[in-house]
Amino acid sequence: MTLTLTFHQMLNRLEEMAHLHRSMTQVLAGWNPKMPDLKVKLGCARHAYEHMQQAAKLEQQIAALTRTNAAIPDLLAVTRAAMQSLDARPCPTEVLTGLYKIVLPTLTQLYRDTLAALHPTCDFGTLGLLQPYEGVLAEQRMWGEAMVRHHGGTTTPYLQALQSALESRYVGPRCQRQEWLWAPLDRVSEAVRPDFLKRAIPGAMRLTPVDRWEDLKGIGLAMHNQLHGEYTTMELTSRNLYEHPEMPTKFHLDMARQAADEARHAIMFEELAEAYGVRIDDYPTYTLTYDGYYAYPEMCEPNSQKELLWRLLIRGTVDEGLALDDLLFQINMRQLLQQDDIVARLHYVLVDETFHVQAALHWVRYLCAGDQARVMDEREVARQYVDTLLRKRRHLYEQMYPDEVAQELSTQQRLRAAIAKRPPLPFERYLNIEHRKLSGYADEELDQVVQWGYGQPPPANPVEEAV
Ligand SMILES: [Fe+2]
Ligand SMILES: [Fe+2]
Repeated sequence: MTLTLTFHQMLNRLEEMAHLHRSMTQVLAGWNPKMPDLKVKLGCARHAYEHMQQAAKLEQQIAALTRTNAAIPDLLAVTRAAMQSLDARPCPTEVLTGLYKIVLPTLTQLYRDTLAALHPTCDFGTLGLLQPYEGVLAEQRMWGEAMVRHHGGTTTPYLQALQSALESRYVGPRCQRQEWLWAPLDRVSEAVRPDFLKRAIPGAMRLTPVDRWEDLKGIGLAMHNQLHGEYTTMELTSRNLYEHPEMPTKFHLDMARQAADEARHAIMFEELAEAYGVRIDDYPTYTLTYDGYYAYPEMCEPNSQKELLWRLLIRGTVDEGLALDDLLFQINMRQLLQQDDIVARLHYVLVDETFHVQAALHWVRYLCAGDQARVMDEREVARQYVDTLLRKRRHLYEQMYPDEVAQELSTQQRLRAAIAKRPPLPFERYLNIEHRKLSGYADEELDQVVQWGYGQPPPANPVEEAV
């Protein structure tokens, strides 16, 4: 069999594919909090991770193949400009249509043409990378086309121009790998939600079930309460990826994986809530952990690495660490109550969260140049900042909504009275030392959590303690 592509042509094809995958990730991640449709958000997060993984694999393959003295291929500037222009469009449906009806078919065609031209012996490794991915692309296209149909996406003059730009990719000036991505085009200070969801008023207390362990609706509300953090973390993590193209590829992979995991968790908790009779629109939706954690006015420059550090410290190493403690506690309790459908899902969530904390700890250390004392100090200041922010929000709410506050306080009283009547729970929520250590917390970081009063290590011997 003869070779139909020169070595350089084959490298250029791989480079072009890697770029399309990487820039698909970029647009999908940047748009995540701006997409109003929740299903679209979840799909965007999953696909962003799939594209990110494939981009990284292709980059590795190109690096492996260019160890010989072959020239490092470069990319047509027109493709890069086309992807940036799509990211800059103001309408979510148009962006979705562009991604799934124009860019993805272009990428699919590139896969087909390249696979048909590869040599089974010379290109064995590349074939192994491309062939399995055709099915992934087909599945993504089917999903995307269904979403575009659902939202009534149509062809616009811009989309026609995008199509022409991508079709003309074999001619024109070229750009280097370091110019692949563009600086973030916007700031997104609030996570968008669909109109049918009622948003909680900032500063309002969360609705807490009187019995979250055995009452069916109470379990449903407890599952519903866990949904919000999954969505907002998916959105914040997606923006971390989008807003920091200067960070290493491994960071982008970690952020893309985390966003995709959070999307899976959101689906799991929504399914569980529904199984216990609670729909997503039955209660208000909370976006504090996106809106409140996105920016730190007067403390961090917008889009700076310090802002990224604070986001990772607060969401990744404070909140998600507490999630490790809470998940273990929930697993123990629900196991005892034989709620196997919940326990099984919580196990998946716990292992994923362990990875998220591990990644956050890794990247905060990276951003502090390995200076552990600075990690500790920055975390302390960031936590105090968020604490003050929450207090101010609550104070404002109390001034503006006295009737609602009175209602909240009477609900709290009923809750406390109901809890006092019940026998004490057989488990308590302690620091989940095993998973916290697996994630990489240093002892001094565990002490920091204890000093804040956020948790206690479990007693050395729980049996003796009980006696
Ligand atoms: Fe999660
Ligand atoms: Fe997480």
